[in-house]
Amino acid sequence: MAGSTKNKVDLSVDFCGVTFKNPFLLSSSPVSNSAEMVAKSFEAGWGGVVFKTLNSDRLPIIHPSPRMNCIDYGSKKEMAVQNVEQISDRPLKHNLMEIQYLKMHYPDHPVIASIMGFFEDEWIYLAKIAEDNGADMLELNFSCPHMCIEGAGHKVGQAFHLIEQFTSAVKKNVSIPVIAKMTPNITDMNEPAVYAKNGGADAISAINTVRGISGVGLDDWVPRPNVFGKGAPSGTSGPAVKPIALNFISAMAKCEDLQIPLSGIGGIETWIDALEFLLLGSTTLQVTTGIMHYGYRIVEDMIEGLSDYMVERKISRVTDLVGKALPNLYETDHFELDRQGITQYDLDKCIGCGQCLIVCNDAAGQAIDWDSETRRPHLIEDKCLSCMLCSFVCPVPGLISYKEMPRDWQRRETTVMDPGLEKGLKYEPFTKEGPNECIA
Ligand SMILES: Cc1cc2nc3c(=O)[nH]c(=O)nc-3n(C[C@H](O)[C@H](O)[C@H](O)COP(=O)(O)O)c2cc1C
Repeated sequence: MAGSTKNKVDLSVDFCGVTFKNPFLLSSSPVSNSAEMVAKSFEAGWGGVVFKTLNSDRLPIIHPSPRMNCIDYGSKKEMAVQNVEQISDRPLKHNLMEIQYLKMHYPDHPVIASIMGFFEDEWIYLAKIAEDNGADMLELNFSCPHMCIEGAGHKVGQAFHLIEQFTSAVKKNVSIPVIAKMTPNITDMNEPAVYAKNGGADAISAINTVRGISGVGLDDWVPRPNVFGKGAPSGTSGPAVKPIALNFISAMAKCEDLQIPLSGIGGIETWIDALEFLLLGSTTLQVTTGIMHYGYRIVEDMIEGLSDYMVERKISRVTDLVGKALPNLYETDHFELDRQGITQYDLDKCIGCGQCLIVCNDAAGQAIDWDSETRRPHLIEDKCLSCMLCSFVCPVPGLISYKEMPRDWQRRETTVMDPGLEKGLKYEPFTKEGPNECIA
């Protein structure tokens, strides 16, 4: 199917005036560390690259060892990866030669140079030298989460005036488009993103890694990765961070003061992840951890899956998908609370495992009567909370689904345990008027 569908749809995107043959890019990290690796990725089908963050050679870069740890969850390997890796430890000259090499051999694959300075002159120096050596765009790394020096990495991303200052300094000195890469280690990304735009940024990319601690050794009590007896809070990436990334991306896409192109990053491993980022407003998509798990070849599945989806939905251009879910994204106070529903069970598919019963009893509405002879659930409809927990634990896809109930349908009140003390209750109703807002 792939061969037949992928040629029927247009996966190319225009991102700040630069054309990518598809929206899939390597993000700045070990997966984009050298021209040899990037060339291999281009052969595999990736549309472009954000090259590993360049270092000006002013300070020697030595990566801690070991530099990563990971969280497996059940049978899912690399649910999250934590890294303490620094920016590129390669000489600047070598990285620039390799950018030139890539432009010479793959002129149709845009190369975005990621840069990180520690002060304004260094930002300008790196920006100009990357442009002079063929970079098609720049990505300003305002977001590395394990920088300890004020004015570097996520410390810039958290000091909004510095974002504007460094973006503006770079923009005044280059003519290629500039992306600002944001840290998720803040509450609201719209504000720093607007500072970047005010500084002249042409686009925003997000997210860099989430500052976290992935585990502690139970034998040595050292947070992981254990760097010779020492651990440190540092960058978490991979599927576990995807909800955080989607939230920031969609908020920026909806921000009226921003309205510049977005490059989505964070936990993208499959075509479905990619599609979700597109639907919530990303024009390009960047990947690291997915590649650190499965290799460059995952792009084939992403291209194939997205193409099949587009053919099925009769969508000819991938750009037509960008932001399509945004009109359906609200704050919770917009929900129609007079519309309620319950779960429904297709018992022909039931295997009698009883997991629905356990979660309904211990975490929901105690809405299941269990027939222990046939090992089948029977739903007590007016006790069902429609939390859907039973459907999450059910091992049979499609067995449990949601059904809306008529508007006059009412859920039964929960049982009250009466202690039997006639006058023991200390209770008076709360009477003062207050704001009538949704309480989540
Ligand atoms: C080992 C490692 C090194 C990274 N190095 C950089 C870097 O040098 N510059 C940068 O902007 N982001 C860096 N990142 C962040 C990634 O580019 C990306 O933003 C993040 O990992 C989230 O995407 P993912 O979930 O697809 O990995 C690094 C990530 C990892 C895992």
